[in-house]
Amino acid sequence: MTKARAMHEHEGQKKGPERVRKILVTAGPTIEPLDPIRYISNHSTGTMGYEIAGECARRGFDVCLISGPVHLSPPSGVEVVKVTTAREMRDRVLERVGESDCLIMAAAVCDFRPGKVERQKIKKRGELRLRLVKNPDILLEVGQREGLVKVGFALETENPVENGKNKLRAKDLDMIIINTKSEGADPFGPGEKRYMLMDRGGNIREFKDVMKRQMARVIIGEVEKYFG
Ligand code: C5P
Repeated sequence: MTKARAMHEHEGQKKGPERVRKILVTAGPTIEPLDPIRYISNHSTGTMGYEIAGECARRGFDVCLISGPVHLSPPSGVEVVKVTTAREMRDRVLERVGESDCLIMAAAVCDFRPGKVERQKIKKRGELRLRLVKNPDILLEVGQREGLVKVGFALETENPVENGKNKLRAKDLDMIIINTKSEGADPFGPGEKRYMLMDRGGNIREFKDVMKRQMARVIIGEVEKYFG
C-alpha cells in the first residue's frame, strides 16, 4: 500500500502535511469548431492521461481528470470533467489548479483555433482560406506557485533533449516527458512507445518500448517523491 493510500484510508481528508494530495490531470485532444459540423483537432486518443489518472487513483490520490473528447471509459475513482475546446480546458484547469498539489498536462491541446466560428455550415466552394488564431498556453497561464508540482509532455521528432529542455524551462515545469517518436512509429494510442523523462535538475532517463500504463507508473512514482 502506498503512503498516500494509507493516509487516505486511515486518516481521511486531513488538512496539513499529511492530507491526501490532489492531482489534476488533463487528457485527450481539444477540438476547435469551424462551423456547427466541422472542426480541427489532432490524433490524441487520451490513453496516457487516462492511464495516469487511473494510476493516481489506485495510489490513493484525489484525482480530477479534465478530458477532451475521447473514446475511453473513465478510470474508476476519478472525477471526470469533460471539455471540448482549448479555452474550455484552460478555464476548467484554472478553476481547479488552486486546490491541486500537482498538475499533469497530458492533453494534446490544439495550438490554434479558427479565428471565426461560422453559425451555419460553410458552403462548398472552389477554395476556402482559414485564418487560425493562437490558443492560450495553459501551462504558461497556470504559472508557478509554491507547492504545485507541474508536469508537461512533449512530442518531439528531432532534437528531443534540446527541445525538451527548452520547453521545461519556458513552461517552468518540474518534469517533462518527451515522446521521442521514431520514424514510421505511431506515437498515439496504446502500444509500446519511447520516452525521455527530464526533471528540472537536468536529469534524464530514457525508456524504450514501454506501454503507457508502465510509463504512467514511472511518472507517478516520480511525482510522489515531490510529496516526501
Ligand atoms: O509546446 P507544446 O505544445 O509541445 O507543449 C506541450 C505541453 O504543453 C503539454 O504538456 C501540453 O499539455 C501543454 N500545452 C498547454 N497549452 C497549450 C499547448 C500545450 O498547456 N496551448
